[in-house]
Amino acid sequence: MPRKEKPTDGRRPARILSGTPANLRALAGVLKRGGLVGVPTETVYGLAADALDSSACAGIYRAKGRPPTDPLIVHVLSTRAAEGIAHLNPAARRLAAAFWPGPLTLVVKKRGEVPDIVTAGLDSVAIRVPAHPLFRRLLRATGRPLAAPSANPFGYVSPTTAEHVRAGLGERIGHILDGGPCSVGLESTIVDVREPARPRLLRPGAITREHLEKVLGRKIGTGRTAGSARKAQLAPGMLKRHYSPRTPVVLHDRLTVKQASAGGKQDAWVFAARPKGEIGENFFWLDPRGDLRGAARRLFALLRRLDSAGHTRIHLEKIPGDAGLAEALNDRMARAAARG
Ligand code: TXA
Ligand code: MG
Repeated sequence: MPRKEKPTDGRRPARILSGTPANLRALAGVLKRGGLVGVPTETVYGLAADALDSSACAGIYRAKGRPPTDPLIVHVLSTRAAEGIAHLNPAARRLAAAFWPGPLTLVVKKRGEVPDIVTAGLDSVAIRVPAHPLFRRLLRATGRPLAAPSANPFGYVSPTTAEHVRAGLGERIGHILDGGPCSVGLESTIVDVREPARPRLLRPGAITREHLEKVLGRKIGTGRTAGSARKAQLAPGMLKRHYSPRTPVVLHDRLTVKQASAGGKQDAWVFAARPKGEIGENFFWLDPRGDLRGAARRLFALLRRLDSAGHTRIHLEKIPGDAGLAEALNDRMARAAARG
């Protein structure tokens, strides 16, 4: 007789809590005692722990199944708080003044307070001042910097609702704070500003290359996040695969109704905008009018929904060009499609 799979540690699935003052106090208590909490941010949901508590942070890696070579992002309430755990040079300060609180993460030189487990032993730390009001209230109630990677099992699509967090990690964590669907929907932009004259974009996001270049007054190079750089050394094939549904994903420069109608009925066809013509029941779109912010908000939720609907393949139409938010959207779609 087939046995039902039991939760990994025999606990009940995580409770989803609203942001009442009593719940925020209770969740701050969980964090101060070294526990984990699923938290809403404006980008994606995070899995938070006290960033100054090594054993709490070890719990994040365990719950996600994340390799210890992939460092965490530390969230603080203000630029001033960031200065307490890292050295901000003038380029970092300029970006912080322009975009914090918001969906921008800066890689800067760390101070001694940050435990090695958070930075995977690097002498730099990734820091973000989030804008989500509920997450900010939790940060204030906890009074500690909070380390939080995206709250998904390692390698899967990032969560943009509390339900997504419960679906992926619900049996490994006790609590999720519900802050509604994420308003941005893609993970933060990451910029390495350790060398002010050579800033590098490690991950594109809602703060675009153009935004960054305008504030810094110079061109910005491209680099890799520490996690992917280390993976490249360990296993070259794993490099790009991330944010991936289990269903195979096929990328298209352009999709037509004709092509989708002639294609497999078990396949899902995702257009950038609502196409003109006869719409099949296996047709989807990122945004009715092709608005990129709408597309960013919906992409991950749609990938999750299609992934659990039993399609043979998911076809994605790329966003034309690479300007503005298109760079981040095309990056995430390419990662979803990468075989690894
Ligand atoms: O929007 C976001 O950034 C979300 C929310 C929760 O804040 N967090 C998030 O974290 O996306 P995560 O762990 O899924 O992605 C963080 C990335 C990883 O690829 C990691 O390798 C990179 O940041 N990273 C962290 N510290 C780094 C460092 N010191 N140098 C270079 N890359 C770093
Ligand atoms: Mg992640």
